[in-house]
Amino acid sequence: MPCKLAAGNWKMNGLRADLDELRALIVAHPNPDCGVLICPPATLLSPMADIAAGSRVLLGGQDCHTGDSGAHTGDISAPMLADAGARHVILGHSERRADHGESSGLVAAKARAAHRVGLTAIICLGETEVERDAGTTLDVVLGQLRQSLPEGASAVNTIIAYEPVWAIGTGRTPTLEQIAEVHDALRAALPDAEMSLLYGGSVKPGNAAEIFALANVDGALVGGASLKAADFGAIIAALDAA
Ligand code: 13P
Repeated sequence: MPCKLAAGNWKMNGLRADLDELRALIVAHPNPDCGVLICPPATLLSPMADIAAGSRVLLGGQDCHTGDSGAHTGDISAPMLADAGARHVILGHSERRADHGESSGLVAAKARAAHRVGLTAIICLGETEVERDAGTTLDVVLGQLRQSLPEGASAVNTIIAYEPVWAIGTGRTPTLEQIAEVHDALRAALPDAEMSLLYGGSVKPGNAAEIFALANVDGALVGGASLKAADFGAIIAALDAA
């Protein structure tokens, strides 16, 4: 069975004052059955690692460079994330693909860097609204999968997140049939059938349970609703109940 995971992507949100949300989450959900992961901005990784020590909450980065160190102003490397307490790193999020022109080939190189230091890569895939309307969703997503997965990717070191671009931060979610269609196709195409498949895009406490009931959905990558312990806690509870 693939591992169940509730992952929060805080994106470019979070100051030290927001660390109380992590404290509240740990108090409210001390013993979840599913994995719980928070990917804060890099500035909060170290203080979060102190707070999460001894709890079930895991931490991750939101991106990493392909290299381990060097003259790359503003970038962060996989060894740095691991050193700060991360166990995972999100790679190829659509916001990075769009805002920073990241190709699937670059995502694969970043995943190799993550794997070198034992980080689990969460590789994000997803079609734009134009691509969905053109009927090319499966071609796009399966093509991204093929090109973004590095050699040696397995259930131990890689997680896939399907995030339709048009569903991110919009409050619009695909129908359950649309999610199932993509997740079923991804499962069939994975090099390792035990790899966890997360859905992301406007997951909220109100729709989490029905999404988690789908056969090939192993959890969620949650943006906005991961910022508040009450909302993210409700999503964790829905995954535990699934
Ligand atoms: P929202 O949950 O805010 O739609 O964001 C999803 C996402 O991009 C997670 O990586």
